[in-house]
Amino acid sequence: MSNQLEQVKALLNLREKARLGGGQDKIDSQHSKGKYTARERIAMLLDEGSFEEFDMFITHRCTNFGMEKKTILGDGVVTGYGTVSGRLVYVFAQDFTVFGGSLSETFAQKICKVMDIAMKVGAPVIGINDSGGARIQEGVNALAGYTEIFQRNILASGVVPQISAIFGPCAGGAVYSPALTDFNIMSKGSYMFLTGPKVVKSVLGEDVTQETLGGASVHASKSGVAHFAVENEEEGIETIKELLSYLPQNNMEKTPEVPTNDPINRKDDILNEIIPDNPNKPYDMYQVIASIVDDRKFLEVHKDYAKSLIVGFARFDGVTVGIVANQPAVLAGVLDSNSSRKGARFVRFCDAFNIPILTLEDVPGFLPGTQQEYNGIILHGAKLLYAFGEATVPKITVVLRKAYGGAYCVMSSKHLRGDINYAWPSAEIAVMGPSGAIEILYGKELKEATDIEAFKAEKEKEYRDAFANPYNAAKYGYIDDVIEPRNTRFRVIRALRQLENKKLTNPAKKHDNLPL
Ligand code: HXC
Repeated sequence: MSNQLEQVKALLNLREKARLGGGQDKIDSQHSKGKYTARERIAMLLDEGSFEEFDMFITHRCTNFGMEKKTILGDGVVTGYGTVSGRLVYVFAQDFTVFGGSLSETFAQKICKVMDIAMKVGAPVIGINDSGGARIQEGVNALAGYTEIFQRNILASGVVPQISAIFGPCAGGAVYSPALTDFNIMSKGSYMFLTGPKVVKSVLGEDVTQETLGGASVHASKSGVAHFAVENEEEGIETIKELLSYLPQNNMEKTPEVPTNDPINRKDDILNEIIPDNPNKPYDMYQVIASIVDDRKFLEVHKDYAKSLIVGFARFDGVTVGIVANQPAVLAGVLDSNSSRKGARFVRFCDAFNIPILTLEDVPGFLPGTQQEYNGIILHGAKLLYAFGEATVPKITVVLRKAYGGAYCVMSSKHLRGDINYAWPSAEIAVMGPSGAIEILYGKELKEATDIEAFKAEKEKEYRDAFANPYNAAKYGYIDDVIEPRNTRFRVIRALRQLENKKLTNPAKKHDNLPL
């Protein structure tokens, strides 16, 4: 065999060795826990044969605790690029089979390299997390490595989409990289927490499991850290692919349109009858969304968190749109602290990535009470207001029923530069609901009235006639048109097409001061 052939053979052997990560035993152990390896996860995510790996031969430089005798090619993270449905993405997948996926200085360097290139070429970064955290033997070098990643997460924010999958442990300061990215997808059995159950027990005396402290369902429903909770890794990978299909490659581009056979002028008679006669009765906003979007397809974000507001992606005539919708079937669609934060984050994401926003409004106001006030609903509500107000992407609003008080102002009203604001004939646009208004306007008369109920009913009718309709707002041009509900899909599509080339910029500033 010639020297060159020997060299090629050695290379192939080295590659084989690198691909084994921590070795067959560790791979078997990973499988026995129902988990895939880093390479298997990348293979599931990317188009077949598209993966190009970087830094396969990197090893750590640590000499503490006998580490110089333990080096593994690739050092615990698999990085590179490939395509998803033909579109370029950069990936890193932490390899639990190598030192428990723990992060060393060189491990961090590999992640930083893909993030830097992704920024230069303008493509999404997908990180798959499964790690014991900072590699303890490396001390400050591991912490420095994490922080270099955080810095890049911050600079990439709003430039390229960043998606994190959590398919195993993600603990301590390591949680901050996913927290800085745009979307977190957690699989059942994975967990995220700053301090683990043992520390919680010693500091607070509380007994908690990893699952109850930071499992997928906890973060999807209580903290809002996870945007998607999935049953298993396969579902997680499919969710990443679906999510990517709604996103542009970077903040300078628009999402490619996806052709549909769903007619743009499809009418849905159900919408003409969906609003109950009793204004206090709920209906299901999901039905409205399904009825108007292409092919009834809607990718909901934060499905289990702050459910009185629905946010997610859909398409209209192939164009990606971010939908923000009050849900009358949950707490009457009220805005509270959590739903305000949820909505604000989603609106800001859409605005950063050129995704038009459709607001479907039926909101009785902000949730009153000490709990909400102590929780800072003033600041959280202001976040949503701010997000809608600063957004320069096309903004279309449809008021279906209630648009009361501050919530009217906040929910992408005309006054926050809403481009096209429609109302259904059932819309009620007023400072507050009729019964609250009558209590305040006629407090004295109510006390003196001989027939209180009859007096209330008469005044409520008067109030309803004046305000509980869209025409008063339309009279002032705050509503561009009152539309037939069954035509909503068509009217939204026309508005979107009209606004395709919208140009609007905010005043130059270093950065804003969003009320955090
Ligand atoms: C070095 C680590 C490691 C770490 C795990 N390993 N975590 N090595 N540094 N942080 C090694 C183990 O020694 C073991 O090596 C192998 O990885 C697999 O770990 P096991 O414990 O056998 O696996 P398992 O039972 O599944 O438990 C997984 C685990 C546990 C729950 C993640 O390993 C664990 O608690 N690790 C420490 C977690 C932690 O506290 N990390 C620091 C967090 S603070 P062998 O050779 O036996 O196979 C932090 C700060 C970041 O990360 C700050 C950023 C700003």
